[in-house]
Amino acid sequence: MADRAPRLPLPATRSRPHDSARLHVSGAAGYADDGPEPPGMLHLAFGQSAQAHAAMRAIDLSAVREAEGVIAVFTAADIPGANDVSPVAHDDRLLADGEVLCVGQAIFLVAATSRTAARKAARLGRIDYEARPALLSIADARAAASQIEPTQRMARGDAAAALVTAPHTLSGGFDLGGQDHFYLEGQVAVATPGEDGQLHVLSSTQHPSEVQHLIAHMLGRSSADVTVEVRRMGGAFGGKETQAALFAAAAALVTVKTGRPAKFCCDRDDDMVMTGKRHDFRIDYDVGFDAEGHLLALQLRLASRCGATVDLSPAINDRAMFHADNCYWLPAVEIVSERLKTHTVSATAFRGFGGPQGMIAIERVIDAVAHALERDPLEVRIANLYGPGRDTTPYGMTVTDNVAPGIIAKLRRDSRYDERRAAIEAFNASHTVLKKGIALTPVKFGISFTTTHLNQAGALVLVYADGSIQINHGGTEMGQGLYVKVAQIVADVFAVPLAQVRITATRTDKVPNTSATAASSGADLNGMAAFNAAMTIRDRLTAFLARSFACEDDAVAFTPDGVVAGAERMSFGQACRKAHIGRISLAATGYYATPDIAYDRAAHHGRPFYYFAYGAAVSEVAIDTLTGEHKVLAVDILHDVGRSLNPAIDLGQIEGGFLQGQGWLTTEELVFDAKGKLLTHSPATYKIPTASDRPRQLRIGLWDGENVEPTIHRSKAVGEPPFMLAISVFSALTAAVAATAPAQRDLPPLDAPATPEAILRAIAAHRAAA
Ligand code: MTE
Ligand code: MOS
Repeated sequence: MADRAPRLPLPATRSRPHDSARLHVSGAAGYADDGPEPPGMLHLAFGQSAQAHAAMRAIDLSAVREAEGVIAVFTAADIPGANDVSPVAHDDRLLADGEVLCVGQAIFLVAATSRTAARKAARLGRIDYEARPALLSIADARAAASQIEPTQRMARGDAAAALVTAPHTLSGGFDLGGQDHFYLEGQVAVATPGEDGQLHVLSSTQHPSEVQHLIAHMLGRSSADVTVEVRRMGGAFGGKETQAALFAAAAALVTVKTGRPAKFCCDRDDDMVMTGKRHDFRIDYDVGFDAEGHLLALQLRLASRCGATVDLSPAINDRAMFHADNCYWLPAVEIVSERLKTHTVSATAFRGFGGPQGMIAIERVIDAVAHALERDPLEVRIANLYGPGRDTTPYGMTVTDNVAPGIIAKLRRDSRYDERRAAIEAFNASHTVLKKGIALTPVKFGISFTTTHLNQAGALVLVYADGSIQINHGGTEMGQGLYVKVAQIVADVFAVPLAQVRITATRTDKVPNTSATAASSGADLNGMAAFNAAMTIRDRLTAFLARSFACEDDAVAFTPDGVVAGAERMSFGQACRKAHIGRISLAATGYYATPDIAYDRAAHHGRPFYYFAYGAAVSEVAIDTLTGEHKVLAVDILHDVGRSLNPAIDLGQIEGGFLQGQGWLTTEELVFDAKGKLLTHSPATYKIPTASDRPRQLRIGLWDGENVEPTIHRSKAVGEPPFMLAISVFSALTAAVAATAPAQRDLPPLDAPATPEAILRAIAAHRAAA
């Protein structure tokens, strides 16, 4: 069916506003917390662990039960079925049982008449802890050999031998911080009892099916008894892929136990403490290269802090390995990935899903090589790009759609990179306090879930007899514009105005067994499933109209001016009415599974991705060497979305992704104290980018091309790849710091995020080494 997509004529202008744009800005868009609260609704809060690692000898909840407004209090012993809210490994507890594994872990659940009452009461639990040794950092866990799974290795050629023979070698490493998702809408779930043991749950989740299945399991019920619904999330960014289940399961438990509706609307500080974040990494490398900067040998060690449980860490760290080549041919390479288990909140999915961490590693290596050779890092990047005869990734996939060289060349020209680089050199030569830097870095991001079976989707299209259409699919809307893209796809199948298509909330009772909306593949998968559903209906209409008007099938056409059947012309609504009277079904399901992907995880070999999305960015920055502060002065981006489904939405994704990446690498810093308690748990101490951090000059262009694979309308996924364009900011900052001391072989030891403190530390170390 996939090959039918490109044949459809498409309107020339495909930019459409987000379907909820007006509702978003007028406050009329409904979120899970916004519905009217039925009488008797209970509000929930967790009693949380104060310790990073401890056995619980006793839990005294008498003061909690007596507190004002408290209706019920639950512990692990009250869970009827599985005490499990984890995605894969069955190791995340809804409520701690016997021991706690991180600060903030849920121990008991309070249901009260108001949120304030629940939160106040939750502080009154008295836990008798028997402290156990806590591993908090990557270094702690390494020393104790504490891992969530064995160290993984991906290799091609003999990197160790190639290092010995390489004309030049370098070693280095750096620390890379994590990131809080900081979705504007926090975690929230509302459970409502139905008849005969059924349950309805509104959940702010990227993964309604998983929430449904976990709740059913937790209650000892079947999936058919539980319906999960989500109309939209106020941002998710991977933070609601697995983390929503805890809150939804808590609400479901209370509803089943009390028979009353229950809402868990998590407080912001609690949310930041209790939910998983991006993995922080320690990255170390040994690289061998020649005088032109060709990478001849690379040994890369990626160590990540996975936290207390497995969550999605295996797949996330795999994706880090998959992106440690970025756009570059590595003839002899060994990537070793340690997945360290610590007594901190379990790290989870975050835009890029490990890809950013792998990609910044290789970009750092290139910066180090260029620095040692005193060459323009862009020349070294270009020298190492994939190309004919050097087009296989370390995991054995052939790069067949390599548009990186073209994108880089065009961006270099359009952004006047060379001219500006020369101007910056002149500036740095004549300024002592302010230093500038510029960098162009590319992105190649693999599209597909690397767990192959997740690459499937379903949709339901309903055409009413008046010609209006409802669509439903397994994808969720988190602001990324998935719903409007899918609606456009369906509207185009019937050549009707977009307004004729009504988008409906994602529900597990409409489309079952869905994958998380993640891995940027929402539109690829659900768009094609919806397309297939719509085409089924269109084919039925075509056959019926051809029969009715005694013409051939190909004399039936769906046009913006109506439906044509031989000499007849009618509105789409008239055609639908006629078909209904002719007893033609106007509802259909659609299904899609990504073809041609296969991956052998044990060997880390195969084709995990259907295709790659590309992009490149040039960032120019200035640092103040006295305060360590910086400013991103100008950014030029050229990004590949294939044949865009909606250029306006895609540009928004590129800008938003870039800025979120800039925040990750510059201002967003997670600080834990010596006992494993997160200190930066509110916007007062955790700084995400604001409007004033957006570079004043931000030029974004879409690469003119189409997907070589037959994706929906030959588009490419856009959700995550632009995040990694922000690596150019970090490279530019590194270059600016390098300009603070005379030329020397080693790159300044800048860690990420490049906060003022980190920049000052790097300047001091760089000057001391000179
Ligand atoms: N854009 C907005 N506005 N809000 C979000 O939460 N999440 C990102 C990205 N863009 C996100 C977003 C992440 S992590 C992913 S995987 C994709 O959107 C998911 O949606 P898609 O597959 O439809 O692109
Ligand atoms: Mo996105 S991290 O795949 O939800």
